[in-house]
Amino acid sequence: MLADSYTLYLKTHNYHWNVTGPMFHSLHLLFEEQYNELALAVDLVAERIRALDAFAPASYREFASRSTIVEEGDQPDATEMIRRLVAAQDAVIHTAKSIFPGCGAGTRRTHRRPPHPAHPGTREGGLDAPQLPCLTEPAPHPRPGRNPI
Ligand SMILES: [Fe+2]
Repeated sequence: MLADSYTLYLKTHNYHWNVTGPMFHSLHLLFEEQYNELALAVDLVAERIRALDAFAPASYREFASRSTIVEEGDQPDATEMIRRLVAAQDAVIHTAKSIFPGCGAGTRRTHRRPPHPAHPGTREGGLDAPQLPCLTEPAPHPRPGRNPI
């Protein structure tokens, strides 16, 4: 998950720097917004790995060996950049669902925090504690006798 997310981050940043053509300005800004979101996400994933008492992979070599996202090595046109980013985002989603199978339909996101590595005895963690991306709690059922629509 971390390798895929970091590879998507780098690909998005690459395209932010290298996009050309009539859509340059809007795509440059869009890709910037996306890589900034990804930077926050990879930090949360890495800190979650640390909260589970493992070291987070943190080198391009490790990411390249673990990522499911292809690094093409060329500079495509803007339309192909978008197509490749959508495919890479799909790959991250696929990886997330394979790791957290309960994150599909019928579950909901929560904002519960795991124990923070610096504060292992706490459930709330510190201010910078990573948040669980998803728990496998099912969504609440509607009350019996009430039409959920
Ligand atoms: Fe920039």
